[in-house]
Amino acid sequence: MEMILVLDFGGQYNQLIARRVRENNVYCEVHTALGIEKIRELNPVGIILTGGPQSVYEKNSLLPPAEIFDLNVPVLGICYGAQAVAKVLGGSVKPARVSEYGKTELEISGESKLFKGVEKKSVVWMSHTDRIFAAPDNFSVTAATKDCPIAAMENTEKNFYAVQFHPEVVHTVEGKKIFSNFVDICGCRRDWKMSSFVTDTINQLKNKIGDGKVLCALSGGVDSSVAAVLLSKAVGKNLTCVFVDHGLLRKNEAAEVAAVFKNFDLNFIKVEAGERFLNKLRGVVEPERKRKIIGEEFIRVFEEVSKKIGAVDYLVQGTIYPDVIESGLGKSAVIKSHHNVGGLPDFVDFKEIVEPLRLLFKDEVRQAGRELGLPENIVSRQPFPGPGLGIRIIGEITAEKIKIVQDADAIYREEISKAGIKNLSQYFAALTNMRSVGVMGDGRTYDFAVALRAVLTSDFMTAEAAEIPWGVLNVVANRIVNEVKGVNRVLYDCTSKPPATIEFE
Ligand code: XMP
Repeated sequence: MEMILVLDFGGQYNQLIARRVRENNVYCEVHTALGIEKIRELNPVGIILTGGPQSVYEKNSLLPPAEIFDLNVPVLGICYGAQAVAKVLGGSVKPARVSEYGKTELEISGESKLFKGVEKKSVVWMSHTDRIFAAPDNFSVTAATKDCPIAAMENTEKNFYAVQFHPEVVHTVEGKKIFSNFVDICGCRRDWKMSSFVTDTINQLKNKIGDGKVLCALSGGVDSSVAAVLLSKAVGKNLTCVFVDHGLLRKNEAAEVAAVFKNFDLNFIKVEAGERFLNKLRGVVEPERKRKIIGEEFIRVFEEVSKKIGAVDYLVQGTIYPDVIESGLGKSAVIKSHHNVGGLPDFVDFKEIVEPLRLLFKDEVRQAGRELGLPENIVSRQPFPGPGLGIRIIGEITAEKIKIVQDADAIYREEISKAGIKNLSQYFAALTNMRSVGVMGDGRTYDFAVALRAVLTSDFMTAEAAEIPWGVLNVVANRIVNEVKGVNRVLYDCTSKPPATIEFE
């Protein structure tokens, strides 16, 4: 398969580089600290060197093997990667007098293959302290900014390119064009499509698994759902999916998931464990204890079911590419704690793990789901934590509180959808443990306050509170106090993360 290799030097936007390449229908892998032998083995059609926090002239700085420049494949260095190109090929890099950070105007001078069709002047994103002071022999300088005279350089004969700015971030207006040009320079056929990924993966799974038995813990989230359907297309009834309903799911969620999976050729086991979880959680108010109890109980239930199923050959995990990159490549496969359920039992009797999505980014997983015929309400699902509503109910969890938060959340989701608001990363209703005085009709009430949350984030590590139009909030608040018994007040959470977190516990 035609592949562009991204050599990762630790920059913060590196995953975006892979995304930009894949947007051009070219397959791309990100690797850290690879030796030349391994690179030869991967046989890339092009190599991209990423940004990174080091200085190329530091003693132990990580540099690409010099032999990559003898492989006869195009190389593109970005930021630190550009300085690495300069350093390895005999140019010079030093600290700049002025660090550049943020949007800057780039001016292209003369002919450039990398900048073919790119506006002569455009805004780019810079983030650097060092810069290239002298280009290596046979390179021509192709662009500059006010404070960076060598903002881009290239050796068109050898197809070596270097840009000091970050073409991968959205603030670089012509970034996509630049990647597209590089993909052309690499002579790519642009034939990596989700439909072919899906068919290829199904075939590979068929070959690998044959008539082996496969077990999948299904959470109803996007990743495990898509992984399950891929496996079902490959092995059919040899796949068993276990879906544990811990009673802390959103309104109608368990039924929706069950309905979807009925349509696929697989064994679907739904375990109703709501009572069991509630019993374990009775009287518990401390958030971490709640999380632990839910995680532990999930494992116990899963274990009991898998014991009944007996030995299986393969366990499915919904690992996706960002997890693979973050956990460091090349490490041996350990049983990763499951994203949605907080750990699977160590002693489920299986031989091997299969991770059919380990090469895909989240939005590619969604695309694959659509290819596989999963309905939009599963495919475009927002993240939902494993402990579920358990961490959206502050204090003790009771059946009454679960019902309140489910109903309030369903109203909130319905109104957001009606209003056509599509940009939210995550939004939900939570139940505070606060009761306050209200008045309804002629009577006094003393009921709970529901809190609404909506955030915008790209990485979920930090987040900002989203501005929901007042009119929408008003409708939601009115509906909740009128339709959900036990609630007389609705609050909107406008805190960012940090200092708050996205979930309430
Ligand atoms: P916080 O509350 O830490 O949440 O700001 C960040 C993101 O992680 C999700 N989250 C979880 N996901 N198991 C999960 O699978 C968990 O225990 C868990 N706790 C938080 C949360 O929904 C948000 O997207």
